[in-house]
Amino acid sequence: MLDVEGVSRSFGGVYAVQNVSLSVAEGEVRAIIGPNGAGKSTLFNLVGGHLTADSGTITYSGRPIDGASAHRRAHDGIATVFQGARIFRGMTARENVMVGAQPWTRHGFVAAALRLPRHRSEERAIREQAEHALERVGLADWADREAESLPLGQQRRLQVARALCSQPRLLLLDEPASGLRAGERTALAELIEDLRAGGLTMLLIEHDVRFVARLADRVTVLDLGQVIAEGTPQEVTSDKRVIKAYIGDEDEHARGH
Ligand SMILES: Nc1ncnc2c1ncn2[C@@H]1O[C@H](COP(=O)(O)OP(=O)(O)OP(=O)(O)O)[C@@H](O)[C@H]1O
Ligand SMILES: [Mg+2]
Repeated sequence: MLDVEGVSRSFGGVYAVQNVSLSVAEGEVRAIIGPNGAGKSTLFNLVGGHLTADSGTITYSGRPIDGASAHRRAHDGIATVFQGARIFRGMTARENVMVGAQPWTRHGFVAAALRLPRHRSEERAIREQAEHALERVGLADWADREAESLPLGQQRRLQVARALCSQPRLLLLDEPASGLRAGERTALAELIEDLRAGGLTMLLIEHDVRFVARLADRVTVLDLGQVIAEGTPQEVTSDKRVIKAYIGDEDEHARGH
């Protein structure tokens, strides 16, 4: 489903991602882990189309997508939940999710502004799609609540519902569990397991190795922009280079970075 081949991206002459290759099969949950600054979000944005690569090729569903905009990629089934994504304030949970349907709305702003009949029937379809997505993430009962009044764990699942509303074939999640309490993390993990059981292909970016251990089929480990290990969760967590990269990171945390 996704082939990243020799992809590099630098900022001001410093590589954020350097010669990274990985292949994700249809139905696979692939975790990308690594310490702070490893290049995880840069890779995420390269796949989502929010950044362009300096070199290398990304193939999705058998076609190179290097020249395709983020909007085009979303339309073609790549959905994203950004790191630290914020909900839209002043909107209900349902409205937040409806925004996710944007990639495939056919009648743009003019029809919306004039509230033409074709727009209204489209809005109804999107509303149904949103209801369905809210159900999938366990938030159907909260549809009419102000999104910002929901606890963080539910807001995070709302972001997932928004991504699901675009009916993706590949879902990219950038540290969806960060900042969540234990119970909220468990609920999110269960949701990811459900989506996986439904056959959705996912790229799960995560800082915490423990969170992905039960969820991912395979794990790719990035450090300083490069792939330093790849394998099953068991394989990578016992890899010496991975342990070293993480211990270095723990030290930095201990020093207060
Ligand atoms: N837009 C940018 N401009 C300049 N440098 C950037 C930019 N984006 C990322 N970088 C740099 O690229 C490197 C990788 O950053 P990236 O955000 O991809 O790491 P990460 O693995 O997602 O880290 P974290 O776990 O903290 O989210 C870092 O050194 C970062 O400072
Ligand atoms: Mg990041």
